[in-house]
Amino acid sequence: MIKQRDYSSWVTQSPLSELDPKKKIFAVASGKGGTGKSTFAINLSLALATLGHEVILVDADLGGADLSNLLSINSPRYTMQDFIQGEVTYLSEVLETTPSPNLRLILGGSDIISISNPYYQQKMKLIRNISQLEADYVIVDLGPDISFNNLDFFNAAPIGYLVTHNVDTIIMGFYRFLKAAFVRRLKQEFKDDPFIMNIINDFQNKGWNRSRKNLVHSIRAASREVHDQLDELLESFQPRLVFNMVKSNSAKQTADQMFSFILQNFGFRLQTAGFLPRDDEVEKAYARGEPYILRYPKGNTTKAIFELLVSSGLNYTKDNRQVTNFSGFNKLLKIEAQNWQFLKI
Ligand SMILES: Nc1ncnc2c1ncn2[C@@H]1O[C@H](COP(=O)(O)OP(=O)(O)OP(=O)(O)O)[C@@H](O)[C@H]1O
Ligand SMILES: [Mg+2]
Repeated sequence: MIKQRDYSSWVTQSPLSELDPKKKIFAVASGKGGTGKSTFAINLSLALATLGHEVILVDADLGGADLSNLLSINSPRYTMQDFIQGEVTYLSEVLETTPSPNLRLILGGSDIISISNPYYQQKMKLIRNISQLEADYVIVDLGPDISFNNLDFFNAAPIGYLVTHNVDTIIMGFYRFLKAAFVRRLKQEFKDDPFIMNIINDFQNKGWNRSRKNLVHSIRAASREVHDQLDELLESFQPRLVFNMVKSNSAKQTADQMFSFILQNFGFRLQTAGFLPRDDEVEKAYARGEPYILRYPKGNTTKAIFELLVSSGLNYTKDNRQVTNFSGFNKLLKIEAQNWQFLKI
C-alpha cells in the first residue's frame, strides 16, 4: 500500500526511500561527463542480477541516454519519453527485457529537449513512479551535468554513488556536484528558517576555501534547536565514492585528501564504495556494446566490483546465501553470460 504524501518538500523527504524501505534504490552520478557512470551502473546491475535479484536499471540521463547502445538493445518498444509525454500511464509500462532474466531496463528517450527538461510535476511523477517499480534493486544512471534534475534524482535516492577519477577537472566536477546536492538538500530542509538559510547562502557564495568553519558546524553553532533535524539529514546524506579508472596507488591518497577536504569544509564524512582500475577490457567491451562483467568474468574490474559488493554487504544471493570468494562469483557470471547469445562467439 503506497502512502499518499505531500511532495512539495520532497527532496528532504526522500520519497524513494520512504515508500518501500526493503527496496534498494541507488542513484549513480558524477558531476562530470565520461567518468564511467553508465559502465558502473550496468556492471553493478548485472552483478546483482547474477546474484538472483530482480534489478531494474533506469537510464535517467535525460537527453543523453545511451544504455541501449551499451547493451546492444536495439529499437526499444517504449522509452521513458513515452511516459514523460503521457503516451503511457505508468513507468512500469516502458520496461524492456534484456537477455538476463533478472535485469530489466527503462531506457531514456532520444535527445529531445522536452525530455531533458521535464516540468516539476513531470519530474515528480517520474520519481514517484521510479519508487513504485517492483524490483529488489532499482539503479538510476544519471547524466553528467549539475542540473536540478540530476541533483534532485540524486537526493531522492536513499543511496547515491558518485563516480570520479583522479584528474583535476573531474575531481572539481565531483566537488561541485557534491556541494550543489548538499546545499540543495539543506535548503529544502531549512527553507523556513531565514537565519540558517543565511549561513547556507553565505557558504554557497563565498566558496568553501574561504569559510572559516565548516558548514555543518556553522549551522550547529547557530541554533541548538536544529541539531536533531541536521543529524537526521546527515544520516540520510551519505554519498558513496567510486574511484574509477585508477592507475596507481596514488588514487587512494587522493581519495583520502578528498575525504578530509570534505570533512573540513562541509563537516560530513564521505564513504568509499570502491576503487576500479583503468582497464582496456572495459573499453573494449564498451566499444562493442557488450556487458563487460559478463564478457570478462575473471577480469580485473570484475574482481574490483566483487570487492565493492563485499565491502558494501551486497554479496548475497536472493535466497540470502553469502558469496564469499571471487571464484564463486565468477562461476555465477559465466552461467549468467550464457543468456547473452552474442557473447557466445
Ligand atoms: N574502468 C575503466 N577503465 C577504462 N575505461 C573505462 C573505465 N570505465 C569507463 N571507461 C570508459 O570511459 C568512457 C566513458 O564511460 P561511460 O559512458 O560509462 O561514462 P559516463 O560517466 O556514463 O559518461 P556520460 O557522462 O557521457 O554519461 C567509455 O569509453 C568507457 O569505456
Ligand atoms: Mg552515461
